Amino acid sequence: MDPEELQVLVSGIFEDLAEEAVRQDGTIEKFIGDAIFVIFGAPLAHEDDPQRALRTALGMQRVFAEHAKRVKAERGAELGLRIGIHTGMVVAGAVRSVREYGVMGDTVNIASRLQSAAGPGEIYVSQTTFRLTNREFSFREVGPIELKGKEKPILTYALTGERSDVRPSIDVAAPLVGRWMELSRLDLAYQSARLGRTEVVLIAGEPGIGKSRLASEFIGLATSSEEGAKAADAPRVLRWTFSRVNQRSYAGFIEPLLVELEVDISAADPIAGMEQRLQELGFANPGMVSPILAQFLHLPGVSEPASDSEEWKRSMFIVVYDVIAALARQHPVLYVLEDLHFADSASLDLLWFLASRTSRVPILFLLAQRLGPGSPEPKPSRTNFSQLVLEPLSDEEAARIVEATFDWMPAELRDRIVARAGGNPFFIEESLRSGTSANDRRRWRCPRRCTPSSRRASTGSRPQRASASSSPR
Ligand SMILES: Nc1ncnc2c1ncn2[C@@H]1O[C@H](COP(=O)(O)OP(=O)(O)OP(=O)(O)O)[C@@H](O)[C@H]1O
Ligand SMILES: [Mg+2]
Repeated sequence: MDPEELQVLVSGIFEDLAEEAVRQDGTIEKFIGDAIFVIFGAPLAHEDDPQRALRTALGMQRVFAEHAKRVKAERGAELGLRIGIHTGMVVAGAVRSVREYGVMGDTVNIASRLQSAAGPGEIYVSQTTFRLTNREFSFREVGPIELKGKEKPILTYALTGERSDVRPSIDVAAPLVGRWMELSRLDLAYQSARLGRTEVVLIAGEPGIGKSRLASEFIGLATSSEEGAKAADAPRVLRWTFSRVNQRSYAGFIEPLLVELEVDISAADPIAGMEQRLQELGFANPGMVSPILAQFLHLPGVSEPASDSEEWKRSMFIVVYDVIAALARQHPVLYVLEDLHFADSASLDLLWFLASRTSRVPILFLLAQRLGPGSPEPKPSRTNFSQLVLEPLSDEEAARIVEATFDWMPAELRDRIVARAGGNPFFIEESLRSGTSANDRRRWRCPRRCTPSSRRASTGSRPQRASASSSPR
């Protein structure tokens, strides 16, 4: 292709990419050659700027893939888009207009280096960005990559998609319906944990039945006081959602502990910082545990353990237990592990070890998993274990979800949706979504294909649905 032709082609594509960014309130900082540079959080800041950046990146890859397909068909040329994202402080220039808004600094350099490390079609994010967004988005671990001009490699993740249990653009956001018994059972377990008895509750149920929602609602109740403010005696919430995409061993513990131990991997000496934090947590001699902990957390520069013997594993488990117990002595710990059916076996081993250790520390392990073949068998070894199986909502409850979204809906249509959904709130939402459009809520129609049998079939297809949205092609 001659350069002029390419120029025309590329500028058309750029317009579409820029639109994705603008839609999320990003600021197009500049176009440099064949690159586009977007910032979020300046000059216009939102609470969820990192999420906006990731959403934009996914949107860009989607839009770009369409262009690439067309260009390939028309001209036989292969085009690829690489994206890098990092979050941090930037030095913002004097602002006369949004157009002239300028940023520079290390944050920008890291983002641009991540971009060049990514392959076509990929979105690489730094660990900092990963930490801020991994509840809403799914990732594949890339590992440390060397960046020019950086002494230390940067731990990198590839964004694979937005998680399916985060609400999509059409807001079917019914307030919690029913589940009062379940909430009070969780509260009972939590109150018992607060009094110093480690408790384990496993929430189990079919896909979409409301496990994550129940966990979130409970966390909300446990962490806020009557006035809705954060309560003084609020628990410390450690939370991890396992995912199907490859994750490292002990994923459910490494990331939450890195956060709680305030480990800054990019610091000159992350172990020193960690030891200080351990001291604050009441470890009289942090040097005793920090070598094991550093290996467990895969801190940079720390060698792999010399052996993976049972003794070694046991000493590691004990150290992890000691750390979590120390955290719990300061504030009750609410340790939430979701989608246990995707957990790596190492995480499960450690979990059952922690859960079965006789202890008088205020910890509630709140676990959630899909019921069905392939789900791990819980190993309750003490009386502190209970299972909460989520049953379908009653028809009356299901109808309330419909009504909370469309209060004008004719009763007959509402009842049809309710009957099809079989008490599964996810199906109700899907039914509402597939019959509506974002711009015109009133144009509700029941699509022909929403027959009872195809609704049922979508139970099993939810995992596929999640992975389809994670692959922009
Ligand atoms: N009791 C409820 N009242 C209102 N909405 C609900 C209720 N339970 C679940 N929902 C909504 O239904 C959808 C599916 O619920 P959720 O994601 O919690 O299911 P899940 O059991 O965690 O599914 P998965 O197995 O896929 O993780 C969510 O949008 C959630 O907000
Ligand atoms: Mg869930």
